[in-house]
Amino acid sequence: MKIGIDKIGFYTPHIYVDMNNLAVARNVEPEKFTIGIGQSKMAIAPITQDSVTLAANAALEIITDEDREKIDYVIFGSESGIDHSKSGAVYVHQLLGLKANARAVEVKQACYGATAGIQMAKGHIALNPESKVLVLGTDIARYGLNTGGESTQGAGAVAMIISANPSIMELENHNVYLTNDIMDFWRPIYSDTAFVDGKFSNEQYILFFNKVWESYKEKSGLTLADMEAICYHLPYTKMGLKALRTVLEETSEEVRTRLLENYELSTTYNRNVGNIYTGSLYLSLLSLLEQKEDLQDGARIGLYSYGSGAVGEFFTGVLQPNYRDHLKIDAHKQLFNMRKEVSVAEYEEIFEETLPKDGANIELNISKDPATICLAGVMDGKRQYVNKLS
Ligand code: CAA
Repeated sequence: MKIGIDKIGFYTPHIYVDMNNLAVARNVEPEKFTIGIGQSKMAIAPITQDSVTLAANAALEIITDEDREKIDYVIFGSESGIDHSKSGAVYVHQLLGLKANARAVEVKQACYGATAGIQMAKGHIALNPESKVLVLGTDIARYGLNTGGESTQGAGAVAMIISANPSIMELENHNVYLTNDIMDFWRPIYSDTAFVDGKFSNEQYILFFNKVWESYKEKSGLTLADMEAICYHLPYTKMGLKALRTVLEETSEEVRTRLLENYELSTTYNRNVGNIYTGSLYLSLLSLLEQKEDLQDGARIGLYSYGSGAVGEFFTGVLQPNYRDHLKIDAHKQLFNMRKEVSVAEYEEIFEETLPKDGANIELNISKDPATICLAGVMDGKRQYVNKLS
């Protein structure tokens, strides 16, 4: 039985800051951010968006009543969850009007959470071929104003429906995974911004890639020539390129050119959104599928997932006949086109506007946020979500 990605939805907030302007404000040459880091625009989450609303907005785009009937498992991959106990999945389950007979859980391992969710979903579908699983990768990446990581922030979510006989991509089974306890990036419970050892995190990302790629070749008998493209977890778009370059010597000029060209297309969306942590790899996959018009059915795509701390995984998927008919290309064009640029001063103000940490009630103005699902406030410690359509 084929199991894989049946649908992919995406959401990013309606405001962004231009990386050229951010560079000027930070006394950095713009080329450092636009070329050295490889980012053009950085999505910013207004206070009315959190990991729950981002995920729910991404899922709204793809979900139909038939899906609502069949989804019996919601897996919320996030490292910017909103509660230490209750999962974001339960809120999304309610906001989407899913059936009661469903499981709903949150999975955490830095940027690896959604990949873990997909693998859990595969097992569930193997045992229950009629059901569908909603997997969410949703995050707001925050390092802080004037920090080394500031240029690699972002916000957004990817929602995927995993099912038998998928319309977009069958996931193959030669997965290779690796865990090692390291401190390259983490976020203690008391902090709403990440701690990071930037250079070490870059090194470990590449080391993990090299290790899982070597094992993958042994396990599968496949090589770079069997991959039409490789999509990477993209904390910033230069990162995946650095990893890809370490293996290109293994293959022919023709394959090298193909992988490099396709790499560029797989980074277009990420370059304009920033790091979305758990959803980042899947945003890169979406970018490739939607930007490369002549990508053929049957093409094999490599996927490298990395979650600091750290867990890495390499796996592959094969595109299904007429997969393009199941993409939301126009909707994503519109989503990008309707975004508004804010100045660096406005971004700083939005960044610093956070929910009360002392349990005080707050009512938020959602009229400026065009998203369908918004956070309208906090009452008695409970987040108040609104679906403007219901
Ligand atoms: N023109 C062109 N390029 C320039 C330039 C200019 N004027 N000035 C500098 N550059 C280049 C540098 O040469 C460098 O390129 P290489 O890496 O290819 O050598 C690049 O711009 C970045 O410069 P620095 O290394 O000096 O940048 P930095 O140290 O200030 O910050 C960073 C980079 C460490 C990634 C930092 O942004 C950071 O800590 N980010 C958060 C951590 C992160 O994203 N880690 C990635 C791996 S971990 C992971 O994947 C999990 C996750 O999601 C967090």
